[in-house]
Amino acid sequence: MPEQAVDHKRIFLALWPDEVTRAQLHAYQQKLKRDPALHAALQQGRPVKPDNLHMTLHFIGSVSSEVLQNLISALDLVHANTFEMEVDTAGYFPRPRVLWLGVSQMPPALPALVQQTAICVQQCIEAYEFQSFQPHITLFRKVRNPGELVQLPAIHWPVNSFALVESKTLPEGVQYEVLRSWPLVPLLLSE
Ligand code: 2AM
Repeated sequence: MPEQAVDHKRIFLALWPDEVTRAQLHAYQQKLKRDPALHAALQQGRPVKPDNLHMTLHFIGSVSSEVLQNLISALDLVHANTFEMEVDTAGYFPRPRVLWLGVSQMPPALPALVQQTAICVQQCIEAYEFQSFQPHITLFRKVRNPGELVQLPAIHWPVNSFALVESKTLPEGVQYEVLRSWPLVPLLLSE
């Protein structure tokens, strides 16, 4: 693993679930773990720790404290709306071998938030290349192809904020720490 400069942090922007949503995502993760149809696929699968469950908006990587401060100042100016999200699909990315939950209906405010925050990231980090956004919440890593996945009863996620998160590699595993979060503006209050 490459060593990280002392004043650098490995960061990403994310939607960070409230406790009720987190509990529901975790319950669904447990349900999949027990599903006999997924037994083979998940045999070597690594569940994401419940406290780490999130939806990444932008993975940024390692930045200095100066860049981090600039990014925070840029993100302070984001003006985006709250929205409701129905997490109602499961999917599989074969290359990172990840099993995830996602949305069949993209709330329009979500790509709008991704776009606004992408501008902030690009302003502060020239090398940042925005790749297409596919909303997903990783539940398991190191999964073998599970074949067709069943639809799930929707998990309702009211999204009221977005977060800047640090990814820390500790002896006991990866731990994510919210460094800062910004409220979104309720639709009724926005102009
Ligand atoms: P994920 O959203 O598919 O789980 C913090 O590491 C988060 O950023 C993880 O949730 C992870 O993927 C995502 N991530 C990590 N490394 C990445 C990379 N090189 N490119 C894109 N996303 C990455």
